[in-house]
Amino acid sequence: MDELEYIFNRRSIRKFTDRKIDDALIGKLLEAAMYAPSAVNSQPWHFVVVDNRKMMDRIMEIHPYAAMFRTASHGIVVCGDEQLQHGDGYWVVDCGAATQTLLLAAQTMGIGSCWVGIHPRKERKEAFSRLLELPPHVNPFALVALGYPAETKPRPARFKPERVKRNTWNQPYFSR
Ligand SMILES: Cc1cc2nc3c(=O)[nH]c(=O)nc-3n(C[C@H](O)[C@H](O)[C@H](O)COP(=O)(O)O)c2cc1C
Repeated sequence: MDELEYIFNRRSIRKFTDRKIDDALIGKLLEAAMYAPSAVNSQPWHFVVVDNRKMMDRIMEIHPYAAMFRTASHGIVVCGDEQLQHGDGYWVVDCGAATQTLLLAAQTMGIGSCWVGIHPRKERKEAFSRLLELPPHVNPFALVALGYPAETKPRPARFKPERVKRNTWNQPYFSR
């Protein structure tokens, strides 16, 4: 398989089979996420693995778009540490890189995933901070739902050549 197929074929999966993901594979996914780039290599992240039914039910109560936790095997909350970040606000960017790395790593293992947004919504951040008992300097950034896919989705057309410029704004990169 062409390596880029993992990128092109990744879709948000919201229906999962009842097969649980092995702890060892969750470990591999987290290892991959921690290889994401970060400003000055500060790696200002923490990960909270959610693997029990009660917590997943609570997640569905506090998040309006997290119904995939009815069938998800695991959730991973990517969190950013203000005390470890390179400078003000960098934890957001670094956590974005870690989250996307996690999604792509899952795709290479045949594991379905969905990014469930927390940051920048204040009410979601507060609710997840409470649920996960996070210290004040640690921000919940995104929740990733994981499981073996019980749905398939086609690859949509997304490449927009007109969004690419050459050197300056008024020069298209791709000529028609
Ligand atoms: C910042 C962010 C927040 C998102 N929040 C949610 C969410 O709360 N619930 C959900 O089901 N999907 C969520 N998604 C997934 C998007 O809906 C999905 O990535 C988008 O529709 C593109 O589809 P694809 O991932 O299948 O390519 C989120 C994605 C991002 C990047």
